[in-house]
Amino acid sequence: MNSHDQDIRLTPITPHLGAVVHGIDFAQPLSNHQHHWVLEAMAQHLVLVAKDQNLSPLELRNLATGFGPAHLHHRDDSVVFAGGIQEVLELRREPADGHLFGGGGWHADVTFQKPAGYFSFLHSKIVPEVGGDTGYASTVAAFEALSPGMQALLRKLNAVHSYDGPHQPERQGLTAVHPVVRHHPVSGREGLYLNTMFVTRFEGMTREESRPLIDQLERHMTRLDFTCRIRWKPGQLVIWDNRFTLHLPCDDFANEPRFMIRCATLEPETL
Ligand code: SIN
Repeated sequence: MNSHDQDIRLTPITPHLGAVVHGIDFAQPLSNHQHHWVLEAMAQHLVLVAKDQNLSPLELRNLATGFGPAHLHHRDDSVVFAGGIQEVLELRREPADGHLFGGGGWHADVTFQKPAGYFSFLHSKIVPEVGGDTGYASTVAAFEALSPGMQALLRKLNAVHSYDGPHQPERQGLTAVHPVVRHHPVSGREGLYLNTMFVTRFEGMTREESRPLIDQLERHMTRLDFTCRIRWKPGQLVIWDNRFTLHLPCDDFANEPRFMIRCATLEPETL
């Protein structure tokens, strides 16, 4: 621990989810103490927000890969690498553009493969004066609020996650099967692992049979009291845990650009 480490502190955003971190410059390599502090804070709050940060794409990659291997997005017309760095995506929306990256629905990053998405690091460069917030939902709070009967039923299920989503065929290499309920390795708590962007069906069931329960669980997971909403300023860094949260950027602004850079990591093998 060095003298600066004593200044690190947290302000929770809601009782279930999210905290603002004070006292860490994330552009600098983290000390061991800072690294462990972030892991503990992530286990407790699942979403961390740091204000007044300024990271280059390379610094963002270095920060993120200190926690897990970077997800390398497969080549796709919609994907632009920030600063030419393959691990960092540009999420840019110009006023004339039709859609916001990730704005299609509540989701978690990279659930369509194994190892799946772990922490994502999103850093704002240009944001609208008002609007373009990101919503987050705790799937731990959601699971804990279910009845014991429903919890027991869900613990027995696996779900199929596919990059192309529930209305397209499941492509090999971009599809994975995961348990519907996951245990947090640090807190020991359980969370739901489902999202309507990528989940096509429950394993062993048809899409038609699966749909009603998936839709009902999405309504439950995104109940207002399990969520928090992050308002962006330029130079903000948000870190979230894709194993136990869902997120949704809010497509409520027009005539202004929004420019973020993002590095998504994958679950380390040691977890
Ligand atoms: C994402 O869905 O990963 C991006 C979220 C955002 O731009 O707010």
